[in-house]
Amino acid sequence: MYDNNKRVAIVTGGGSGIGLAIAQKFVDNGIETIVIGRNEKKLSDAKQLLGERCHPINHDVSDLASLPSLVDNIIRDFGQIDILVNNAGINMKKDFTETTDEDFQQVINTNLTAVFSLSRAVVKHMIPQGKGSIINISSMAAQYGMPRVISYSASKAAIDGITRAMAVELSPKGIRINAIAPGFIATAMTAVALDSDPERKNKALGRTPMGHLGQPSDIGDAALFLCSDAAKYITGVILPVDGGNSIGF
Ligand code: NAI
Repeated sequence: MYDNNKRVAIVTGGGSGIGLAIAQKFVDNGIETIVIGRNEKKLSDAKQLLGERCHPINHDVSDLASLPSLVDNIIRDFGQIDILVNNAGINMKKDFTETTDEDFQQVINTNLTAVFSLSRAVVKHMIPQGKGSIINISSMAAQYGMPRVISYSASKAAIDGITRAMAVELSPKGIRINAIAPGFIATAMTAVALDSDPERKNKALGRTPMGHLGQPSDIGDAALFLCSDAAKYITGVILPVDGGNSIGF
């Protein structure tokens, strides 16, 4: 039986960075938050930090065949899923000609196919509930061309596409689908991408009107808004949270 008095969220890649900040906002607002990740240490640190509303599950979302039973087990244990944040993602910075088919496929599998497969498994439970909110995490790499991230760009551009396609098909069933396009946010992923490449960092900040990196909590605030009733008439948007980076000169 669906319980109107509680909300249950899944945040993939919730053990670190942006996902952890989203999970933090959710637990702070009384949402039972299942944090899925691959790293036992990060998950136990997250549990320590977030407390009793945080429910870590060690699971690799790129293992597609396992996702339906993962979701069935969550439904068995929590009764419902109100919110899914598809945040887990990997980046791969390589020259176009150095990127192998396997590299490309690996990024697509984690950043795109897993998002599709997990969403499909979750939506099958959201449809009978008649409501739900899914948030996909996109990127500036889907807004404009970035060099040396060909597979990542492909995956994130496709995230924008499936966000719109899911929104038109699922919104009539009460399920809102939106994406957040983070600009340059201070996390481990950005450190790897930018700290070793000062020219790229200067370029990123140079076209960010606000002039500084964002914080993971900025994305957490946007996610909390998009899954709340305050956003009940919002579906199919790709919301940049980027200090103006996407419209910067
Ligand atoms: P991060 O590397 O700190 O966090 C990613 C998390 O996803 C990690 O905890 C990792 O263990 C988990 N993960 C990766 N593959 C997984 C898998 N197969 N199964 C389960 N968990 C898996 O990176 P960050 O920066 O927090 O990124 C989160 C999302 O935000 C990603 O989708 C990324 O593409 C996106 N993003 C980040 C930006 C930034 O500036 N940091 C900018 C734009 C988008």
